[in-house]
Amino acid sequence: MSGGDVRRLADWDRAHLRSLAAKYGTPLYVIDLERVRSNAQRVCRAFPDAHIQYAVKAHTGHTVLKTVREAGLDAECASAGEVARAFDAGYGANDIQYTAVNPPDKDLDYIVDCWRENNALTVTVGARDTLLRLSERGYDGRLCIRVNPGVGAGHHEMVQTGKDAKFGVPYNRAADVVAEARDYFDVIGLHAHAGSGIDVDQLENHRELVQRMGTLAREVGDLEFVDVGGGFGVPYRKDEPPFDLRVVADATREAIGEISAQLAIEPGRYIVADAGVLLTTVNTIKPAPKTTIVGVDAGMTTLLRPALYDAFHPMAILADRGDSPITVTGPICESSDVFCTDRPLGTPKRDDVIAIGNAGAYGYEMASTYNSRPRPAEIALANGTNRIVRQRETLADLTRLEKDEP
Ligand code: LLP
Repeated sequence: MSGGDVRRLADWDRAHLRSLAAKYGTPLYVIDLERVRSNAQRVCRAFPDAHIQYAVKAHTGHTVLKTVREAGLDAECASAGEVARAFDAGYGANDIQYTAVNPPDKDLDYIVDCWRENNALTVTVGARDTLLRLSERGYDGRLCIRVNPGVGAGHHEMVQTGKDAKFGVPYNRAADVVAEARDYFDVIGLHAHAGSGIDVDQLENHRELVQRMGTLAREVGDLEFVDVGGGFGVPYRKDEPPFDLRVVADATREAIGEISAQLAIEPGRYIVADAGVLLTTVNTIKPAPKTTIVGVDAGMTTLLRPALYDAFHPMAILADRGDSPITVTGPICESSDVFCTDRPLGTPKRDDVIAIGNAGAYGYEMASTYNSRPRPAEIALANGTNRIVRQRETLADLTRLEKDEP
């Protein structure tokens, strides 16, 4: 079961999830490391010739990074913090690509220090200004130019980076920027990323992006790799088909055409999304004129995606409670703090546990302490055992770094 193309919420063992909630309390993130491993292996099998990096931002947990590294994936990091986490999980500089997006000075200082220790590190840059700031710091190492391909894709317009001018140098300026950068840096790659959560229907956009990158690679020549980003979607709804990696791999190979550089990809969500669930406990049941409001102990601070992107996550009460429609809401004082509206999950009893599926990607990562809610704990499952891999924050943690002294 853990090795198939898709893992739905219904495939999780309900009794086991209930026992984890009872043992560790809720809200609780659960991450199944065996599923992480098998997702990574499936990507490797579909893209046997490609350089595969895990987009660390999807889930930066130490055990997840270790598992992904052991499965053979390198690391694509979006910040100094992610690079530090990658080192901490055993990655070496030659396995890390740092993708700079308007990088703060402190990030660049850290990255250049890392590079001085080991110049196998690769830095990806999407603005001429960043090139100048790197050279001011004496960096003249491995450099990849991020291109804005002018074509985006993804589950929501807020994550369609490929057509957002914020990311990458404009496609029609890219060859000039590469030529200029070659005077000072070791330009070894081109990079573009269409967006996140690309589904089967958006394959055309992916193909177009890859085609453009192939053309550009032939124009500039002499590269080690062409990185066409991540973004592979996973089905969040029951009736959505799984993303067929073989189809994407074939389309990618065909679209890129003949290039002398290696193809690189950097999936995040695909590796971890269906390896995670979030468990939350019902505390309030309130009949309302048009629905039943069910209050739970997780909220938009625990899993932000529904509030931010109106994202659908599969949900189930871990007890048989029929199929009446309910609206599940968290403890945050905001109307956007809603996990689902009028969904036929059945009417729970107080203390029932609700599981929220596909929470492994951009779940814990985007958690916050808004409303002074400590962040949840996380449990990792592996080889039939479970262990805490992130402690639940306490009320004391909320003020730990605050000072009120002159
Ligand atoms: N590479 C780059 C340069 C990226 O910016 C991203 C995601 C990825 C790779 C990985 O994309 P993935 O394979 O995970 O789709 N918080 C949003 C997703 C934002 C993704 C940002 N960049 C969400 O929860 O849907």
